[in-house]
Amino acid sequence: MKHAIGAILLIAALLVVGLLVLRVDTLLPPAASTQAGPIDSIFNIQFKLIAFLFALIVGLMVYSIIFFRRKKGDTSDAAHITGNTTLEIVWTLLPLAIVIALAFISTNAIAETMRIDSQAMEVNIIGRTWTWSFEYPAYSASSAELILPVGKQVLFHLSSRDVIHSFWVPEFRVKQDAVPGITTTLRLTPTKIGEFSLVCAELCGRDHSAMVAKVRVVSQADFNAWVAAQTELATAPPEVRGEKWFNENACVSCHSLDGTPKLGPTFLGLYGKQEALESGKTVLVDDAYLYESITDPMKEIVKTFSPAMSPAITANLTELQVQDLIAFIKSLK
Ligand code: CUA
Repeated sequence: MKHAIGAILLIAALLVVGLLVLRVDTLLPPAASTQAGPIDSIFNIQFKLIAFLFALIVGLMVYSIIFFRRKKGDTSDAAHITGNTTLEIVWTLLPLAIVIALAFISTNAIAETMRIDSQAMEVNIIGRTWTWSFEYPAYSASSAELILPVGKQVLFHLSSRDVIHSFWVPEFRVKQDAVPGITTTLRLTPTKIGEFSLVCAELCGRDHSAMVAKVRVVSQADFNAWVAAQTELATAPPEVRGEKWFNENACVSCHSLDGTPKLGPTFLGLYGKQEALESGKTVLVDDAYLYESITDPMKEIVKTFSPAMSPAITANLTELQVQDLIAFIKSLK
């Protein structure tokens, strides 16, 4: 009886510690989506269950190690126990009931996170080593940042250009793989205005850990303003858009617009020029040459310049952005 009370007290103490440590609000970042609700309630149940099982198992084990140690010089056998039918029935049925209950709760939670809103906004997410890009087909817009209106369900269509990546914003809780060759989907309703980070949750190569994109959840009014700006941009002449991509991608750090050579050739008067290459060849700077130089910058190097432009610099440009940049360079006479 004395041992039973001692063991129960130790288990109770461990349970209190476990419940204090294993908490959704301290271990997980603040939830910021509707789908986070059912997921966090499962975490909550599991954390409590884990705390109880930890206290029960470790408590009994530690208590036994301390109080039922073999005394020095004691070589006698321990009491021989052959079995306990009641105990065996209990420890079979109880875990079975818990696992069935968890399966039921989890199925409900999955259904809850997949609940369809017919008004959902569709966004395509494209993963490639090692960047994300986002397309808004309804608005003919694309972006390197994920911009979402608060309180509105989004239906993502995920795809990959190369290997498997995985969409994960910890505050939104839900996660989905982007798999080459197929399109996967994910539904999400952001509930908090703010900035978050989309991280890749599938080991995808050298820069996997740097495969991060900014997620901005904004008010519906701010989102409408963003869409309007995107629409205006979509109808602007290509060279105007090209100038924007030129500025946004910091091309000017290596390519001047006034004729002075920097780390790379100037863009002024470049189009239509004959360029001597390190390989000994001479090429005419036309659309095809510019396209190749932007998308595969290390392939041919212009004489007197060094191969300094990493392909990563232009890797996240869309096809349209490359065409816009060519139009911009063409316009610089
Ligand atoms: Cu993409 Cu890891």
